[in-house]
Amino acid sequence: MALPSAQAALPSIDKYRSQVLSHPLARGISPDEVRDHLASVPRERYPSVAYAGHGPGPCIQPRGGFPLFEDQYQLTRQLDGAGADFIPLTIDSYTRQNQYETATKLLHRSEEEEKNYLNGYPLISHGYELTRQLYCGLKKPVSLRHGTPDARLLAEVAMASGIAEIEGGAICYCLPYSEGFPLDRSLLYWQYVDRVCAVNSTEDLPIHRESFGPLTATLVPPALVIAVEIIEALLAAEQGVQSFAVSFGQTGSIIQDVATAAVLRKLARWYLDDLGFGAVQTYLVYHQWMGQFPMERERASALISGSAIVSSMIEADKVVVKTVDEALGLPRAEMNAEACDTVQYVLRTFRAAGTVTSPMIEREATLIESETKSILNAVFDMSGTAFWESVCRAFRLGYLDIPFAPHADNSNKLLSVRDGNGSIRIAVAGNVPISAQDAYLERELLKSRDDRTDKTYRQILTDIRVMV
Ligand code: 5AD
Repeated sequence: MALPSAQAALPSIDKYRSQVLSHPLARGISPDEVRDHLASVPRERYPSVAYAGHGPGPCIQPRGGFPLFEDQYQLTRQLDGAGADFIPLTIDSYTRQNQYETATKLLHRSEEEEKNYLNGYPLISHGYELTRQLYCGLKKPVSLRHGTPDARLLAEVAMASGIAEIEGGAICYCLPYSEGFPLDRSLLYWQYVDRVCAVNSTEDLPIHRESFGPLTATLVPPALVIAVEIIEALLAAEQGVQSFAVSFGQTGSIIQDVATAAVLRKLARWYLDDLGFGAVQTYLVYHQWMGQFPMERERASALISGSAIVSSMIEADKVVVKTVDEALGLPRAEMNAEACDTVQYVLRTFRAAGTVTSPMIEREATLIESETKSILNAVFDMSGTAFWESVCRAFRLGYLDIPFAPHADNSNKLLSVRDGNGSIRIAVAGNVPISAQDAYLERELLKSRDDRTDKTYRQILTDIRVMV
C-alpha cells in the first residue's frame, strides 16, 4: 500500500534548487531575495486573501499572454479594469516545451517586426526583473497558466516575479499535452515545483497551486477527473503545499456539472483530512466550455453567459472565462476584457441561490462518488513505497485512463459517450476499476440515448462538439 503521507519534516531541496537556478536564464535568482520580494508584494496578490475578500459568487479568471512586454502590460491593465479578479500570465508553447532559445529568438523577431510570433508571454526569456514591473501597483493575484511537464525553472522565475498562483500538475500538464514526456519524470518535476511553492509560502500567505481538471476536455467521465484532481491535491500536500484549487471543465450537462462540483468539493476535502492534510485550504474552480467554440459572436457570447450561470449554481470559487474570439485564435485584448465584463454582469444579475439539487442530480452524484472511491482505492491499494509510483503504475495498468489523451502511457481502453440528456457515460470501462454495479448503471443510463445516427464516427463527433 502506498498512501500519500504527511511528513513532519521534509528533506531539504537546496541542492536541487541550486542546480535548477544555475541556468543562465534564471539570471542569478536568489531564494532568499525571492522570499523577501514575495513578502513585500501587497497581500491582495495572494489567492487566499483574494478568495477570502471576494464575497459571494465566483471570482473571475481570464487567460492571456502576448509576447511583447508592452502588450502584456496593457492586457494586464485592461483585464484589471474590466473586472477580472485574477490576472493571467499565459506562457508561449516553446517555453512550455523548455525550448527557451527558440522562444527568445521569436521574442526578438516579434519585437523587431512588431508582430506576434509567439502564442503567449515568454516568461523565461523576459526574466523576472522585467516581469516584476508588469505588476507594479497591482492588487490582484497573478496566475501562471501554461501546460508544462517540466516547469521547474518556469515556476522559479514566476515566483521570483511575484506570482503567487501556479497552475498545473504532473498528470494534468503531461497526459493531455504530450505523447512522449515520461510520466514518472513529470511526477518528479512537479514534486520540485510543489516543494518550491511550499518553501516560498508563509503560514499567513501561502503560494497557491491549482490543478487543471478539464484534462483533454473531451468526454472525460467526471469520476476520472475527480480522481486525478484529488491525486494532484494529495501529491502537492505531500510536498507541503497549503493552498490548493481543484477544478473541472464544463461537461455539457448541467446535471453532471452540479453533481461533479458537489462530489469534487466533498471528496477533495475528505481525502485531505483523512490522510493527515487537514490544514490544506481547498477551492473549487470551474472552466467554461473547453471544447470547440462557435464561430458566431452571438453564440459564443451566449455560451459564455450560460456557463457563467452554471458557475454560480455550483458555487464555484472561481470561473475561468472564454472569449468570443475562441474559435478564431488567441483573443484580442478588448474581447478578453469584454468577456470579463460580460461574466461579471451575469454573475451580478443572477446571484447564487444556494445549493441546487434534484433527484437526477442526487443519483448522478451518488454514482460519481462511488466510481471515484473505487478508482482511488485501487490506486491506494497498489503495492509500492511511494504514492507517486502507484500513480504512475495506475496509468500503465489503465486504472486511470483519460479519453483522447495523446500520451503513450495512456491505455485508451475506456470508451465514453453521451446519454440522452448530454451527460458523459462510461460505455466501456476498460481497466478502470469501477464496480460491476456502477458499470451496469452507466449502461442503463445510456439507454436514454436516441441512437438514430448509425455512423459511429458521426456519433462521436456529435458527442465531442455538443456545444456547436
Ligand atoms: N491568450 C489568451 N488566451 C489563451 N489561451 C491560450 N493561450 C492564450 C493566450 N496567449 C486560452 C484559449 C485556449 C485555452 C486553453 O487557453 O482560450 O483555448
